[in-house]
Amino acid sequence: MIKRLFDWLIQPLGLIAVSIAVLALFSLAAYGINTTQQPPAQPIQFPHRTHIAFGVQCLYCHPGAARGPAAGIPSQSKCWGCHQQIAKTNDPKSELRFLKAAVESGTPIQWIPVAQVPDFVQFNHRAHIAAGKNCEDCHGDMTNLTLAENPQVFNMGWCLACHVKNAGDDHAKLVKLTDCGTCHY
Ligand code: HEC
Ligand code: HEC
Ligand code: HEC
Ligand code: HEC
Ligand code: HEC
Repeated sequence: MIKRLFDWLIQPLGLIAVSIAVLALFSLAAYGINTTQQPPAQPIQFPHRTHIAFGVQCLYCHPGAARGPAAGIPSQSKCWGCHQQIAKTNDPKSELRFLKAAVESGTPIQWIPVAQVPDFVQFNHRAHIAAGKNCEDCHGDMTNLTLAENPQVFNMGWCLACHVKNAGDDHAKLVKLTDCGTCHY
């Protein structure tokens, strides 16, 4: 039985069937990776919710968003500015033990990026903040989030839909904001 199956598999038709199965599995996997918006396992379970509720502004930790292309992730020394004065930081059961260890050993925390566009796409935060867009317009409501995750896939249709909406009747603006060279160069 096994032998007959094997003989069939190595026939041309069998090989084609196997390749199709492999391809199908592969694209399914790629599709799955693209669509699941599960937050990755971060080195520290950093709770956005707690910090936002405490009144810390997005731009305090991500100041690059107002100044340039990338928003940036705060360094551990910025965390430590607050946490060295917070009692909970010394609680050996808290997530904060990982922050304390990173600060004491001087090893940078390796955050795993979640909000990203491919390298061939030019995105600049500053232009959007200057145009009056809010963080939540693109990143969703983070006040209830524990781990950061993407509310939507940053695909081309999503960028273009907002650009078309913002251009309104301004033809020159519409041309600029939908020109391939505006986002790909
Ligand atoms: C106290 C500092 C702090 C504040 C305040 C803060 N963040 Fe963050 N943010 C972080 C850290 C640390 C990470 C990396 C960990 C993670 O991805 O969960 C991060 C990650 C992110 C990410 C994912 C970036 C990526 O690709 O890894 C987004 C988007 C984000 N923050 C948006 C916001 C917005 C919007 C606000 C305000 C509503 C905000 N943050 C407030 C510290 C902060
Ligand atoms: C502006 C001050 C401030 C900054 C900056 C800040 N935090 Fe916090 N963080 C707090 C406060 C306040 C709490 C709540 C502490 C409590 O519950 O007693 C907190 C709670 C936490 C907790 C949850 C602890 C627990 O066990 O519930 C983690 C984890 C954490 N912070 C990590 C970080 C990291 C990592 C950074 C830097 C990226 C950072 N914080 C920057 C003020 C800050
Ligand atoms: C017009 C949509 C838009 C707005 C508004 C926006 N972002 Fe982003 N954000 C993005 C996109 C797209 C990326 C991925 C950029 C990349 O891969 O180069 C991103 C990436 C990030 C990242 C992770 C990588 C990095 O360092 O850039 C953080 C953190 C972030 N944004 C925070 C913020 C904060 C805070 C605000 C508000 C002050 C904000 N964003 C406003 C679309 C937006
Ligand atoms: C929430 C709406 C919104 C979304 C989503 C959005 N944009 Fe924009 N974008 C704008 C607005 C508004 C402007 C500024 C228009 C103007 O010049 O007044 C702009 C301008 C730009 C510019 C021109 C910047 C400059 O220097 O003049 C680029 C490039 C750009 N966006 C890329 C992107 C990319 C890439 C994405 C998707 C990853 C995206 N945008 C998603 C609203 C948006
Ligand atoms: C507002 C910004 C913006 C403009 C304008 C834009 N693109 Fe894109 N483009 C993107 C983003 C973002 C992606 C990444 C899509 C993803 O990761 O799913 C992308 C991806 C692509 C890809 C890769 C295939 C894919 O779908 O992932 C091609 C090819 C492409 N764009 C061609 C073009 C052409 C041609 C034009 C002009 C007609 C254009 N783009 C205009 C933002 C833009």
